[in-house]
Amino acid sequence: MQALRSFFMCLFFLFSLLRISAATALGTITPSGYIRDADTLVSVGGSYELGFFSPGKSKSRYLGIWYTDSTDAVVWVANRETPLGDSSGLLKLTEQGVLVLLNSSNNIVWSSNSSTIAGNPVSQLLDSGNLVVQDGKETNPDNFLWQSFDYPCDTYLPEMKLGWDLVTGLERYISSWKSTDDPAPGEFSMRMDLRGLPQILIMKEAKIQARIGSWNGLYWTTIGYGEPNPISGSEFVMNKDEVYFEKRPRNMSVFSRYVLNPLGVAENFTWVYQTQSWELSYTFQADQCETYALCGPFSSCSFKSSSTICACLKGFVPKSLKDWNSRYWSDGCVRRTPLACSDGDDFITYSGIKLPDTSTSWFDKRMSLKECKGLCLGNCSCTACANLDIREGGSGCVLWFGNLIDIKEFTSGGGQDLYIRVAASELDHVKKRSNFNKRKLLAILLSSAVFLMGLLIVGIILYKQKKKLRNEGHRRKDCSDEYLGEDGEEIELPLFDLTTIAKATDNFSSCNKLGEGGFGPVYKGTLIGGKEIAVKRLSKNSGQGMREFKTEVILIASLQHRNLVKLLGCWIQKDEKILIYEFMPNKSLDFYIFDQEGQKLLDWPKCFHIISGVARGLLYLHQDSRLRIIHRDLKCSNILLDDNMNPKISDFGLAKTFGGDQSQANTNRVVGTYGYMSPEYAADGTFSMKSDVFSLGVILLEMLSRKKNRGFRHPDHDHNLLGHVSITNEVMIFYFKKKSELDGALRSTVF
Ligand SMILES: *[C@@H]1O[C@H](CO)[C@@H](O)[C@H](O)[C@H]1NC(C)=O
Ligand SMILES: *[C@@H]1O[C@H](CO)[C@@H](O)[C@H](O)[C@H]1NC(C)=O
Ligand SMILES: *[C@@H]1O[C@H](CO)[C@@H](O)[C@H](O)[C@H]1NC(C)=O
Ligand SMILES: *[C@@H]1O[C@H](CO)[C@@H](O)[C@H](O)[C@H]1NC(C)=O
Ligand SMILES: *[C@@H]1O[C@H](CO)[C@@H](O)[C@H](O)[C@H]1NC(C)=O
Repeated sequence: MQALRSFFMCLFFLFSLLRISAATALGTITPSGYIRDADTLVSVGGSYELGFFSPGKSKSRYLGIWYTDSTDAVVWVANRETPLGDSSGLLKLTEQGVLVLLNSSNNIVWSSNSSTIAGNPVSQLLDSGNLVVQDGKETNPDNFLWQSFDYPCDTYLPEMKLGWDLVTGLERYISSWKSTDDPAPGEFSMRMDLRGLPQILIMKEAKIQARIGSWNGLYWTTIGYGEPNPISGSEFVMNKDEVYFEKRPRNMSVFSRYVLNPLGVAENFTWVYQTQSWELSYTFQADQCETYALCGPFSSCSFKSSSTICACLKGFVPKSLKDWNSRYWSDGCVRRTPLACSDGDDFITYSGIKLPDTSTSWFDKRMSLKECKGLCLGNCSCTACANLDIREGGSGCVLWFGNLIDIKEFTSGGGQDLYIRVAASELDHVKKRSNFNKRKLLAILLSSAVFLMGLLIVGIILYKQKKKLRNEGHRRKDCSDEYLGEDGEEIELPLFDLTTIAKATDNFSSCNKLGEGGFGPVYKGTLIGGKEIAVKRLSKNSGQGMREFKTEVILIASLQHRNLVKLLGCWIQKDEKILIYEFMPNKSLDFYIFDQEGQKLLDWPKCFHIISGVARGLLYLHQDSRLRIIHRDLKCSNILLDDNMNPKISDFGLAKTFGGDQSQANTNRVVGTYGYMSPEYAADGTFSMKSDVFSLGVILLEMLSRKKNRGFRHPDHDHNLLGHVSITNEVMIFYFKKKSELDGALRSTVF
């Protein structure tokens, strides 16, 4: 135990060392000053820092801007394509107001572009993360000589303009890094397309990968819902000089960043002070329907139904029925009845829709919906129309010509109305209904009102009963309750459909099997678009019943921490239960520490990084998450490693939640793994945070000694690793007692 204590003391000591950052405030840069590799420039309010860094495993040096609180979150890089080979880089401001980055032979490696010459140039890092060059004390952004916000890298920050300056032709767009080790522009970019109604696209080189869509006054049309706070200060500006989107900061003490990662996935992170970590608050492209034009023309993509994803729009049929039935959708659908063109057409209204690709659209900001529909019916090639702005009942007009591509149906609310033009004969059933005589209609209305009334009463009774049951603590969950958190609020978890999963894993082929967990096999899968996933298929006769499964889904879906493995989705049907996790390319910790080749890859800095990460993850489970969670099965094989060897705690099948101030509990069912279970848990079934910390201690010992606790052999005795450490420690205490001449200082550093 003593040894454990000293390990923790060591850990805390190292943590506190890390806190002392090497930042030095130099204020601003003037032509007489400079910034060397060892210096950093801190923004006026202290939020951001400019300096030199090496990304990931790279040894090259780059000039960049990051958060003072989170130095590995780099938001901007100057010399993306021209790295420095050594740490002799120097940033200077010339008398003309140009920032230059010099290498050791005084050659310019990177420079800012400012066309106007300043009388009294000053460069300053603003508290928005914007590095600017200004003339004297000029603070009007329009008069900055140069600003880094005009040349974004992979991160969008509030106050940045994303879009075009039509006067100078400057396009401000986000481009992904090549990899986490190389900030040079990668294949993905997020930019504003000016064809038709402007929309934001995610491009893979010159191909559209996904659409974020156009601004409808409240939100991006393809995201389908607004922000929690509608007065968010987001602004979309479209005039003859400029077209851009800008997010205004609501609260300077809240940090959020929007990153296009090297795989082309756009992610929104928010900084959480309590955990000192970034919480992923939103991922674009979370489901397959975000893949551009997955369903082909005139069809819509939906994740609701379990067997089909794509469906033809009403009035349209598959272009090739054979292809369509074999789930080859990209040819799309065609009209069942051709448009009559003059006077013979009408609209079918679709609600809750992600509007189609607007690159072939036409728009007008002032027109009403009625005028808009009239205009569409008057032009034979017009295929659909919608409101441009959905605020205050809707205004403006968007018209589509030709194919309608990339429509999605929102299954969980959100989206907007789209009016699709079809031949009037497709609407015949609607017309027939209007031929009913009025008495009949009245009778129907009356009887349905009575029926609805009855339904309502039954509904209220049922609701009350359910509530009563709930209050008594006897909540009866059915399958639809699977995604409910403990407090009954819904957790947004995408449902993957079985065919997608089967396709991704090559029909659960044994070649893709990653391993066999306690409750069933785990497969590697690749979704369309290349995203890799890990698929845990719970075997039908596994010990993990509905109870453990529910625990795992509910728990992990509500947890968000960089050191916990992320649940991407699930699939449940009677006896098929599947969990989909992010894929961890570097397997689990036990592959390294108990393997001779693996050990070589795990040097002390990496070990320390892993230990700190696991400790942070555990701290989050125990203290910082909404519910206190006891993992109960912490062990090396449950510590997974991502491609940067960041540890992530996995397997929550045995986890238990504790209420507010509960600190321990007992169970009759002692489950876990021998060798990692604390004595009081193994013997009496008592578990608490302490039993998890015990398991963490065993992991630390195993990492440092590179031996398994269980299965440890020593010629002198038959203790396990833990026993061995405690004896050796006793030997040391004995030694210290004898050698009383050793001063107390040394002893206190060891213990
Ligand atoms: C400095 O940059 C110049 C031009 O890019 C290059 O030719 C030179 O080799 C570099 N010097 C060093 C020491 O890297
Ligand atoms: C600087 O200006 C040159 C010429 O106008 C242009 O080719 C280059 O892309 C600009 N660089 C940046 C970083 O804007
Ligand atoms: C900004 O956010 C912090 C933390 O959430 C909060 O304490 C503070 O009151 C907020 N300030 C304003 C002006 O809303
Ligand atoms: C990211 O998400 C947070 C929380 O939902 C939100 O406040 C912020 O505006 C988002 N940032 C961007 C750039 O979308
Ligand atoms: C229909 O709209 C298209 C696209 O705006 C336009 O080129 C064409 O002239 C219009 N046709 C008529 C008859 O107005």
